[in-house]
Amino acid sequence: MESGDVILRFENISKIFPGVRALSDITFDIRRGEVHVLLGENGAGKSTLIKILTGVYKADGGRIILDGREILPEDILQSRKMGIGTVFQENSLVPHLTVAENVFLSREIKNRFGTIDWRRTYIECQRWIGEMGIDIDPRAMVRDLSVAEQQIVEIVKILSQEPSIIILDEPTSALSDHEIDNLFSIVNKLKNEKGITFIYISHRMEEIKFIGDRASVLRDGHYIGLLPDLKTVKLDDIINMIVGRALDEKFPKRDVEIGGVILEIDDLTVAKTIYNVSFNVRAGEVLGLAGLVGSGRTSAAKAIIGMLPKKSGTVRIAGEIADIRSPSDAIKMGIAYLPEDRKREGLLLTKPVRENVTLPTLRKFKRFGALRKSLEAIAVNGFKEMLSIKTPSIERLAKFLSGGNQQKVVFSKWLCAQTRVYIFDEPTRGIDVGSKSEIYKIINNLARDGAAIIVISSELPEILGVCDRVVVMCEGRVAGEIGRREATQESIMKYAIGGVR
Ligand SMILES: Nc1ncnc2c1ncn2[C@@H]1O[C@H](COP(=O)(O)OP(=O)(O)OP(=O)(O)O)[C@@H](O)[C@H]1O
Ligand SMILES: [Mg+2]
Repeated sequence: MESGDVILRFENISKIFPGVRALSDITFDIRRGEVHVLLGENGAGKSTLIKILTGVYKADGGRIILDGREILPEDILQSRKMGIGTVFQENSLVPHLTVAENVFLSREIKNRFGTIDWRRTYIECQRWIGEMGIDIDPRAMVRDLSVAEQQIVEIVKILSQEPSIIILDEPTSALSDHEIDNLFSIVNKLKNEKGITFIYISHRMEEIKFIGDRASVLRDGHYIGLLPDLKTVKLDDIINMIVGRALDEKFPKRDVEIGGVILEIDDLTVAKTIYNVSFNVRAGEVLGLAGLVGSGRTSAAKAIIGMLPKKSGTVRIAGEIADIRSPSDAIKMGIAYLPEDRKREGLLLTKPVRENVTLPTLRKFKRFGALRKSLEAIAVNGFKEMLSIKTPSIERLAKFLSGGNQQKVVFSKWLCAQTRVYIFDEPTRGIDVGSKSEIYKIINNLARDGAAIIVISSELPEILGVCDRVVVMCEGRVAGEIGRREATQESIMKYAIGGVR
């Protein structure tokens, strides 16, 4: 490779956290104008490397060379000035500011009197949103947006800074296919027309071949190797390189007799959000809830478990009306809900992994009022093993785990509940290829034990791979219901975009 090709070089980068060697001697080059994909299991070190590049962490050893010169950014602001724009895995927006205020935060557009020019701020913001092909109001408060919309705002914010390198750490995990298509056309446009370089992190194998040029694979903090041409390499070979072994079936088969109706939703309406939603789920059945982001899937789930107030409608469990007014009512009546926004709704960041898993079910580990620590540890270590949660110990605070491992902790928490109805909202978001099939196996086992399960997912292959039946939502209503045999990506999308009425 000509040296002129290289825009960025990592040289012998190492990073140690207490008890964890997050990165060991990482060396590789990023070429100008390429989309370089960073691959690796949850906890492999991808985000850590990005955080070193952007000055969030300091490396314990090694050098970063940008355009032939060594750089040592002290913080994100500095790295931004060097032309590096980053969309982090964690949300970094200010909830009580508007979209436009967030996008132009600390680089406000001023008028000739030196005060903020709001008219231009909103126009500029709208222009960038328009480029994404998305409909978000620049004046909306960020806290009122969905996770997906917030993710888009993060991307808009970075794009509008016009950097020379853009880092996207799992940008699509909260987006639906339509929004991903838009994002990808923007990436391609910026790459081809402006020569912008991308570092791209994702666990969604279908998309990395589509969007990526070359890829680097990390495993346990080590550089495993380079994939010089993502377009031609086989998917199986990529996966083998990531996990270091061949994988079993991606979607393990389930052979379960489907029983009587367990959960029955009738005419559910939430003000301005969902309208007259009805469906049911049977024992042993996995029902998919599909639809575009914003179609009301998560709102329906939240209304069922009492997180959103119902305007009308009933929930029946095993034939009996369940008057659920709060999430704790839902737990009592046998419904567990794995939220899509784990950071905000599912995880206590400053508590150890152990407590995060057992908090809602602590009763189970008590005998005569005293906590049986050993029982608790056995249970939690069981989940750690089963889902390969990467942490030196279950006593480690949740905030020190990698994004995907945090998801696994929240997942374990709801498994621990052992209940009749499970609602999984994007269960594999941010989970690596190896662990995804473990999660599908667990869903299968729950079904085998007679649970009624709802899986909300924006990944159509996942819906098709794990569900017995699919209910498709569009603009707050049930647009259609499709049996497993008839379900295809096309048939689901037709309903999802409102094509069938
Ligand atoms: N601030 C921290 N303190 C302690 N350990 C940390 C910290 N940040 C990361 N780690 C550890 O470093 C390792 C690498 O984490 P990193 O977040 O880089 O993984 P990742 O490849 O981005 O994973 P994911 O796909 O789950 O996002 C993990 O074992 C993680 O627990
Ligand atoms: Mg990460």
